[in-house]
Amino acid sequence: MGDLRTMNAEEMFFSTTDRRGVIRQGNSVFVRVSGYPLEELVGAPHNTVRHPEMPAGLFRLVWDGLNAGRPVGAYIKNRTKDGGSYWVFAAIGPLHDGYVSIRTAPHSPLFELIQRVYAHALRVERAAIHENGMSRHEAALLGAAEIEASLWKRGYSSYREFMLHALPEEVAARSQVVSMVYDRPGARGSIAEVLAGTGALDGVLDELVGRLAGYQKLGDELASTSTRVLDIAHRLHASVTAAQQASELVEDSAPVLANVARVMAKPMTRSVTALERLQTEFGRLKSDIAHLRFQISLASLYNDMAAAFAAEVFDGDAPPESLGAVPLLCDAAEAVIVEMSEQVQRVNAALRGVAGLVAETGTLLEEFRRFIGQWRNLVLRHKAGPALGDKVRPIDTEISASWEWMELLRTLGRQYESAIVPFDPAFLQTHLDKIRIAPAAL
Ligand SMILES: Cc1cc2nc3c(=O)[nH]c(=O)nc-3n(C[C@H](O)[C@H](O)[C@H](O)COP(=O)(O)O)c2cc1C
Repeated sequence: MGDLRTMNAEEMFFSTTDRRGVIRQGNSVFVRVSGYPLEELVGAPHNTVRHPEMPAGLFRLVWDGLNAGRPVGAYIKNRTKDGGSYWVFAAIGPLHDGYVSIRTAPHSPLFELIQRVYAHALRVERAAIHENGMSRHEAALLGAAEIEASLWKRGYSSYREFMLHALPEEVAARSQVVSMVYDRPGARGSIAEVLAGTGALDGVLDELVGRLAGYQKLGDELASTSTRVLDIAHRLHASVTAAQQASELVEDSAPVLANVARVMAKPMTRSVTALERLQTEFGRLKSDIAHLRFQISLASLYNDMAAAFAAEVFDGDAPPESLGAVPLLCDAAEAVIVEMSEQVQRVNAALRGVAGLVAETGTLLEEFRRFIGQWRNLVLRHKAGPALGDKVRPIDTEISASWEWMELLRTLGRQYESAIVPFDPAFLQTHLDKIRIAPAAL
């Protein structure tokens, strides 16, 4: 099958469709790379550019997301009019009564991975159709399940989780290669206004993405530290139970030992519970951050696309009418920004929750430390003390290990508290409004 085309790193495809995927608009890059004149693309279903080597299961997963009203990201191999092919990373999102798709050249290492996943799903689909007589519809469902199973083996709980990760990775990898490409210092009027507005938005979104990258690092540290502390807490808990049992042996001669052992079990149990809750909260925070990162990256793609239109018109590569797509892109970006602002609230609440739980665990463990200190003193002073020596030593070891980790956890908890995302949707909105009305003046 024909040759493999490569796109330039800064190139972005643009198309809009109705709800069924029938193309309404396309840009000059789509026309040039696909080899179809615009007149042939407009009014045609998007599967006109479908490549036979793409597993149907992928499109099943894409449409499942779109039908649920969610934006979706996907690596797609397309066919050109003359039988050649090209790969893109497509971000497809809802827009008014249809969809908008922005496609860029794949840049991230995930591209390698997904090609292997697709090749396997395609083999399974073809075998199901040709050897087992399965219908195309059933084979697509099977292919979708195969894609998810392959991704699961690579640590993604679903296709959705994969694409929530892939889109920001692609946007980040692209920004390493492409920067300032839409700057046109000579631009005047509407074009200059669109470029100024998109430049300002880009700055804000970039800052947010940088912040989230920091959260991810902090999150990974917190995850491993809290797992470690939970492990120590479980072992301490076991030691406390042993101390309780030992104290009961000497309860007649030293009832105070058993009493203190009983009392100290309480903060211990509660701190184990708090640490277990921390694990759950933490998982939620990670997923909320992944969503937010996806939304910010999607808004930044829409924003870049608007800048690309203005730059193309300035360069004379597209007619001034193509700036008509800019307000549409502003609408798409606005919808994402509205969701983003809700997501920011969720992330901030989760950040506070995690910081609160870390502090709570710290207080409970401190309380436990006081009791265990008392208990240790009593053991030392009591005549039954030497007999309990074997029970005391493992507790001492666990305690000294736990303070170090607890201190680390607390430092991370404090960092979390100060990590609250500053987000002002009104600021973004003002810029969007400026970009939206600029083309009207043309
Ligand atoms: C906005 C939008 C963009 C799309 N872009 C592509 C694309 O670039 N390539 C592609 O093969 N399918 C694309 N699709 C999916 C097609 O509509 C179609 O589902 C797919 O080509 C599989 O064809 P089939 O459903 O006839 O099997 C897009 C759909 C939408 C809504």
